Parts: sequence; structure tokens; C-alpha cells
Amino acid sequence: MKSQIEELLNHIKGFAPNNKEQAEEFRIALLGKKDKITELFETFKTVAPEQRKEFGQRLNELKNKAQEKISELKDQFESKNETKEQPSDLTLPAENINIGSRHPLSIIRNQIVEIFSRIGFTVSDGPEIEDDWHNFTALNTPADHPARDMQDTFYISENPDIVLRTQTSSVQVHIMENSKPPIRTISPGRVYRNEAISARAHCQFHQVEGLYIDKQVSFADLKQTLLYFAKEMFGEETQIRLRPSFFPFTEISAEMDISCPFCKGNGCNICKGAGWVEILGCGMVDPAVLDNCKIDSKQYSGFAFGMGVERITMLKYQVKDLRLFFENDIRFLKQFKSVV
Ligand code: DAH
Repeated sequence: MKSQIEELLNHIKGFAPNNKEQAEEFRIALLGKKDKITELFETFKTVAPEQRKEFGQRLNELKNKAQEKISELKDQFESKNETKEQPSDLTLPAENINIGSRHPLSIIRNQIVEIFSRIGFTVSDGPEIEDDWHNFTALNTPADHPARDMQDTFYISENPDIVLRTQTSSVQVHIMENSKPPIRTISPGRVYRNEAISARAHCQFHQVEGLYIDKQVSFADLKQTLLYFAKEMFGEETQIRLRPSFFPFTEISAEMDISCPFCKGNGCNICKGAGWVEILGCGMVDPAVLDNCKIDSKQYSGFAFGMGVERITMLKYQVKDLRLFFENDIRFLKQFKSVV
């Protein structure tokens, strides 16, 4: 019996398991229900009385050592598991999470929305799949109107009445049909045109449409609103100039240039030496359009404008190729920091 006790004590001392399972086997063998130590306690009953003291002490020592070792092993393996889930040093900096960044077109669209909402414009939305009425006819562009050639349209072959909208001006019609003046809203959105893709043109792009309808809205209101926008977007020193133009849904119509934000009007390669760059189309809403949308053109007047988000983004960030906006190249996209 003595040798058995010594053997077990040595076993306990030298035992070094590699994993939790081995440690558990060790525990069961030593202090489980049918374990070796209980067995020894059983045999202890048969020990001669004069030897009992010594054996008793050794046996208790064995039991204590076994318990000590087992709780030591428990700590060892449990804390090993914890290290997997939790860093041992909680002050270490966390791993970087790549959360991406806002797309440059979204950044500029949000800025445009923010600038106009400061002067009371709401934001409205319309469908990208449109009918001919909202995209063309209500906007004073009937089927045989030559202005339809200005925009190469994607038609659905089975139903030529359905188009992918070529302009966000279609949202104007929805709004005027569904609400009463005063109306003061901007409509950002995606538009489609059947164009060959190049550095300066794409089959999809983005516009922001603006519409203001009330009693006695004048061309001066339009001019002042757009001047405010140009200064907020491109800087306080920015100047605007309006050139006569043509759009079927506005009468009178104009295109707006801003003084080149890079050379301040002196002429550079961005403005091709002109000192001015065109950024949008605008005009007074044609009374025929108001009437098409059941708004009394004798009582109400209004202005409208439409701008390309890509164009403004290219100008703001000096992006030379429009295709970059649609390629999802992370090296391009991560260069833009959003402010709104
Ligand atoms: N819809 C025009 C285009 O896509 C832009 C435009 C011009 C919108 C004049 C307007 C406007 O509201 O008044 O080229």
C-alpha cells in the first residue's frame, strides 16, 4: 500500500496533460466515484493499528495533493480557453474594421440636397421606369417633337409607352399632379440614355431637378436661388452667368455657367480657357406644362432647373473620366471624404 501511495504521489507530481480531456481523465481516475484514492481508503481499513497513523497521514496528503493538482489544472485549461476569446491585454488597440466610405456622387448629391433644404426645398422622388406622359408628353414634348432627339431614350420593345426615364424632370409632373402650390422641391435620382460610354458620357447618370411653383414667381427668383446655390457649392467668390437656351418645358430657358472655380475666371485647361463652366439648365416653367398638370397657369408661375451630379462632382474633385464613378474601384472610391 505504501508503494501504491508513493507511486500515485509521483504520478500526480509529474502529470502534465496537453488538453482539457486528459486533465478530466486524470481527475476521474483520482477523485471520481470509483477512483484509486477511494480504493486506498478502503484498503486502509485493513491496515494494522500501529501503522494506521503513518498511512493515514500519507493517504490524506495524497488526497490533498490530488485535489490541489486538479484545481490547478482546471485553472490552467479554463484560462487557456479564455485567451482565445479575449486578448490578455485589454489595452491593446482594436483591429481596424474597414467600414468603407461614401461614394463621391452621394457626397455631392447630399451636399446639393443640404444646400437647397436650407432655403426651404423639400426632397421628392419618382420612378426610374416611366411612362411617356411623365417623361415627355406632359413636359411639352409630344411624340413628333424634335426635342425628343436631344435625349436617346431606352424604350421597352413590347411597349413603347414605357421608358427608362431620361431626365428627373419627369418627377416635376408627378409632383404637380399630386400636390397644390406652393411647391418648392428638389428631386435627385438616376437617369438613363442610350449613349456610347466614354470618358464624358454614360448610359446611366444622376441628376437633381428643382421646381418652385407659387403666385408671382419670377426669373429674378430663379437667378437669385441659383446664385445662392453656386456660392454655397463652389465658394463665396463664385459668379454666375445665364445664357439663352431651349428646353421644351421651360419658356424662357437658359443654361447657367459659373466662373471657373480653378482659375477664378482667368482661363485654364479645366474651363478650356473660357473662364466659365456650364453646370445646369433652367427656365420658367412653360404655362403649357402647368396646364398639363392641372395647375392654373393664369394664377401660378414657377421656375425649374436640372443639373448633372456627375458633372458637378467631376468639377469639384477634378475627376477627368466619368467611367470611374461606375467601376467600384476601391482605390478610387476611398479618396473621398464626406462632410454631410
Ligand atoms: N431635363 C434637362 C436635361 O436633362 C435639364 C433641365 C433643363 C431641367 C431645364 C429643367 C430645366 O428643369 O428647367 O437636359
